[in-house]
Formats: sequence, structure tokens, C-alpha cells
Amino acid sequence: MGAVLTARHPAHMEPPLQISPSSLADPGPAPADGSAAAASGRKVYVETYGCQMNIADTEVVAAILKRAGYRCVESPEEADVILINTCAVRENAEERVIGRASQLSGLRAHNPNLTIGILGCMAQHLAASLPKRAPFVDLVMGPDSYQRLPDILAQTSSEALLDVRLSRVENYVGIDAARKSGTNAWVTIIRGCDKFCTFCIVPYVRGRERSLDPDEVLRQVTQLASEGFREVTLLGQTVNSYHFEQTDFADLLRAVAAVDGIERVRFTSPFPKDFTERAIAAMAELPEVCPALHLPVQSGSDSQLESMRRGYSISEYRDLVARLRAAIPDLSLSSDIIVGFCGESEEDFRQTVRLMEEMRFDSAFMFKYSERSGTAAHRKLPDDVPEELKLKRLQEIIALQEQISFEVNQRWVGKSVRVLVQGNSKRKTAEGVRNRFGRSAHGKVVVFPEEAEANSLRSVLVDRATSHTLYGSAQD
Ligand code: SAH
Ligand code: F3S
Repeated sequence: MGAVLTARHPAHMEPPLQISPSSLADPGPAPADGSAAAASGRKVYVETYGCQMNIADTEVVAAILKRAGYRCVESPEEADVILINTCAVRENAEERVIGRASQLSGLRAHNPNLTIGILGCMAQHLAASLPKRAPFVDLVMGPDSYQRLPDILAQTSSEALLDVRLSRVENYVGIDAARKSGTNAWVTIIRGCDKFCTFCIVPYVRGRERSLDPDEVLRQVTQLASEGFREVTLLGQTVNSYHFEQTDFADLLRAVAAVDGIERVRFTSPFPKDFTERAIAAMAELPEVCPALHLPVQSGSDSQLESMRRGYSISEYRDLVARLRAAIPDLSLSSDIIVGFCGESEEDFRQTVRLMEEMRFDSAFMFKYSERSGTAAHRKLPDDVPEELKLKRLQEIIALQEQISFEVNQRWVGKSVRVLVQGNSKRKTAEGVRNRFGRSAHGKVVVFPEEAEANSLRSVLVDRATSHTLYGSAQD
């Protein structure tokens, strides 16, 4: 999945494939048990592609390896072990990962003992063919196998080691993900997906849906608050489908929002059909829950939604958005849209355009359909929209969304917004000043020049807005 809420990535683009090289520096204490001995001091570098769930998984991997005595490093050149946590949602993601792994294998010229591993969704998807396609890879592990990573790394073999068993229960309970210090922490509350949208590979590579015990979620969130995190984002492929015994998503939202020290709660991505009135009420009532929602629609055409097997119609989506907007005034709404899915006619596409004009999303991630082997669409529906037409349609909606995002953002000009400061922005201004940036409750990236500590809350008066960013000055 690749739905990223943050407006840091232009609304018209896919989120950049490589989200972050994990910079999970400081080694942490080596564990007392003997398994650490073999690994002691071995240096591991993890590179992450794809969605937030992959970022969160990388943090779990780092925690597991640190516990086994590994040290996380910031660059592949320093590493004894390089792990690439991958995405399989679209084909170009896979190609880029293989290219990157091949490039990294060049480091063996200086370090012949370098181990290279492919983790995550693409490892799961291509397990059988990867060793042939990428013979320089030593291990291939799916998203449910990370507890076994230290054992597998301790083995030596002339052939690639494969572990792609999917689990119905693996939730990495008790593992405190090794996070960078910061403002927002990702907390995975539900793994896998049971929806089987016909275009999507996720259920095949991440397995069946299972929710984390709410006690464990609260343990993690309380721990995060004590470490200074002020914001948590609850994660899941269908995050609002969460249920554990008597606890549903609305209950969990209330419990998380009540944790002392947590001032902002976000979640991504909800599945439209599973949005309950109770969840809407929780969002509306809890000041900690941010008024920003990423609600993937995929298409504006009922017949496309039907062949995607999304389980809702456009009028149901429209009705849900109306209820959300009535309950949460000023709600910031973003979405995912696919063009060029099997059988998409010109009229289907026009309906998507009209839906975007009607909904006026704050931002959207827009994709060309990319056929994935093993999915129902791959088995049953011809990928019949020509590539050039897919591209043309994509370009059209990108331009449309760009314009809408620009217009929607103008409503913030002249208003004061509370910004949770993340740090210094990458670029300097013409005067050589490095601005601060952070996010408003509505999820907008806000840039301002005044000094501000990371992780502080500041009020910023907005004086200018582009389609992706609000600019202003701090008032307090
Ligand atoms: N439920 C997930 C969605 C996972 S995939 C979530 O939390 O957002 C993220 C997005 O990628 C989807 O919403 C869809 O818009 C897009 N996508 C998934 N499979 C795709 C495919 N085969 N081709 C193009 N886009 C796809
Ligand atoms: Fe994919 Fe649909 Fe699940 S988009 S992640 S199968 S909700």
C-alpha cells in the first residue's frame, strides 16, 4: 500500500518509493542471552520502500536485530548486513528494488562477507523467482517471519535462504519498535487484509487480517508517550476494521486518545465500508483525534467499483463523506484513485473526474493500474486499457487535483493553525535561512522562519498557500 497522508509528497504524485533509509542509529544494550554473541557488533543497514506499514515494520526489524546484538548503521557502506524492506503494490516498485539490490551488491568488492536480504511484500510475492532474478541476494523473508531473522542471519548457505511463511497470528507483540526520536510514532494495530479488492496484492503478501490486543496497543502508546512522542498514527491496511473481542476501532480510538501525553491521534487507511457511526462520533468528540482522513475511493464509477470488488457504491461513499463532514466541520479529506483499471471506459473515467470535482479532496494519491500476478483481476479481467491512455488519464487527474488542492488550501490563508514542529526544512530560502516545518492538525505541512524546537507546538499565522504547503509566521 502506498497511501501517505502527509502533504510533504506533492498531492499529484505517488509517494516516493524510497521512504527512508532507516536511521536507527544507537545500538542499545546487547541482550543477555547467548544468541547475541554471534551477532555481537555486526552492523546492519535497512532500507525501506513503500508505505507507512513498511516503515513501521522496519522499526520492528531493527528492534529484533538490536535485541540479538546487531548495531544499526546509517549507510550501506558501513554494513555487514543490508536488508531491503520492499513493496509489491505496483510493478515499478519491484523493478526499482531489484535494481537497487544489484547496485548494493557491488559493495561486495570491498566487503566479500556482505549479506544482502530482501524483506517484505515483494519478498513474499516473488519468493520463488527472486533467487533467479536477483542471484546476489542471500535471504528472502516475508512480513510474518521477522522474529526468525536473527536465526536465519546466523546460518550460512551457498543458496538464498527463504522464509515466507504467512501467519494468522503474528503481531510482533511485546516488541517495542526501534523508532527515531521525533514527533509522530507509527503504531500498527491491525495486520494483513481480508478485503481482496481484485486489483490488490496486499492480502496475498501480508496474509489474513488480525488485530492487536488493545492492552498491547495501549502498552505501546503509553511507552511512546513516556519517550516524548506527542502524536501517534494507528496503522492498518483497513485500520477501522480493527476488532479484538469486545473492542472495536471506536473504542480503541477513545482509549488511545486518553493516554496522557498523546496530543494528536491519526490513523490510516480506513476502509469506507467499515466506517461506523461510532467511529465518526469518536472522531468528532475527541479533540486529540485529528480532523484529517485518508479515505481511498479508487474510482468514481459504480461498475469499476464493482469489478474492483470494493463493496460500496459511489452513493454510499458520498453519503459517508457527507456524514463525516457534517460531524467534523473543516475535515481534511484525501484519497487514493486508480485510473486504467480493467474495462475502464471513457465514461467510467469521466465519472472519476466528476467525483473529484464534487469531493474536492485536499490531496490524492493517483495511480495507473498495474497488473499484479496472483490477484483476481490478473486471473479474470483483461488489462485492456492501453498504456498511453492510462498515462493520459493519470495526467489529467493529476492536473485537476493540483488545482483543487491549491484552491482548497487557500481557505487557510489568514488563519492561525497549531503546528507540531518536526524540524528544519531541507531547503534554505534565498536569504540562506533554514525554515522550520511541521504539521497542522489537518495534516497540512506548514513552513515558517521563526526558531522553534522540534516536537513543540506553535501557532502559525498562514499568509500564503500552495497546493502542498502553507507558509506563515509563528505567533507565540
Ligand atoms: N488498504 C490500503 C491500500 C493498500 S495499496 C491502505 O491502507 O491504503 C495503496 C493504494 O495503492 C491503494 O489504495 C490503491 O489506490 C493503489 N493500488 C493498489 N494496488 C494497485 C495496483 N495493482 N495498481 C495500481 N494501484 C494500486
Ligand atoms: Fe488492498 Fe483492498 Fe485490502 S486495496 S489492502 S485488498 S482493502
